[in-house]
Amino acid sequence: MSVQTGETVLDVRGLRLEAMADNRVLIPNLNLTVRRGEILGLVGQSGSGKTLTCFAVGGLTPPGVRATAGEIHLEGRRIDNLAEADWRAVRGGRIGMVFQDPLSSFNPVKTIGSILIESARRHQNLDKKAARDLAVRTLKAMRLPGENASVDAYPHMLSGGQRQRAMIGLALINNPALILADEPTTALDPTIQLQILALLRRQAEKAAALMITHDIAAAGAVCDRIAVMLEGEIVEEGPVDQVLYDPVHAFTRDLLASAHLGSKR
Ligand SMILES: Nc1ncnc2c1ncn2[C@@H]1O[C@H](COP(=O)(O)OP(=O)(O)O)[C@@H](O)[C@H]1O
Ligand SMILES: [Mg+2]
Repeated sequence: MSVQTGETVLDVRGLRLEAMADNRVLIPNLNLTVRRGEILGLVGQSGSGKTLTCFAVGGLTPPGVRATAGEIHLEGRRIDNLAEADWRAVRGGRIGMVFQDPLSSFNPVKTIGSILIESARRHQNLDKKAARDLAVRTLKAMRLPGENASVDAYPHMLSGGQRQRAMIGLALINNPALILADEPTTALDPTIQLQILALLRRQAEKAAALMITHDIAAAGAVCDRIAVMLEGEIVEEGPVDQVLYDPVHAFTRDLLASAHLGSKR
């Protein structure tokens, strides 16, 4: 699954995250890079810090958590110290985010299309007609049904898998340099999971992606490299075949065993 990878898109250097209430260190010292054309899978048990990593990279560190060290660079530009107004230009633009629960990303009283159109107009300065055409093309690429690819549908009118694909469309409509996907296929049936992973794989050829999952089989199917997180630290990282079939760390072997994948050796 080796693809030609390009320049570094995401560079996280020495990121440290602490809980403000009790100064508990949630992520002591995180270092990771993702290059263009590459999907880095972040796997690990629940509570290991995967979502926090994703939120911190997207400038959405939750209330109660603060970064006390480190830097995050996107396309060579430092982003962790941006003001919220500047973040709004980055998020949805250079960074596209796919969350676990697509219902939470869509306002129930707005059509799917209007949300994509709003985003395309904000980030690409398009007029209404051009933005609508782009929304239809994007949703068509996500294989949303109907002549206009469900652009006028409300979120509740779509199935779970369709909503998930619409959310990926929203994440991709402005051609982001980086896709952040947190458990993008959890709670979907297996055929739809594969479709969605294939869509992400195709898009990642033009961008870079960080895909968080507790599903190590899904990670194996689409990722180029895998990083294994344990209690806020990356304990093992390498090409997907090496991590899945020749893991170094005992924790990775346990994770594989519990996923019934096992190790070849
Ligand atoms: N807003 C918050 N305030 C304090 N602690 C948090 C907050 N969000 C997450 N945490 C803690 O950070 C750790 C990692 O959580 P998370 O990144 O959600 O794990 P994962 O996505 O790997 O399941 C957990 O111990 C969790 O309790
Ligand atoms: Mg999580």
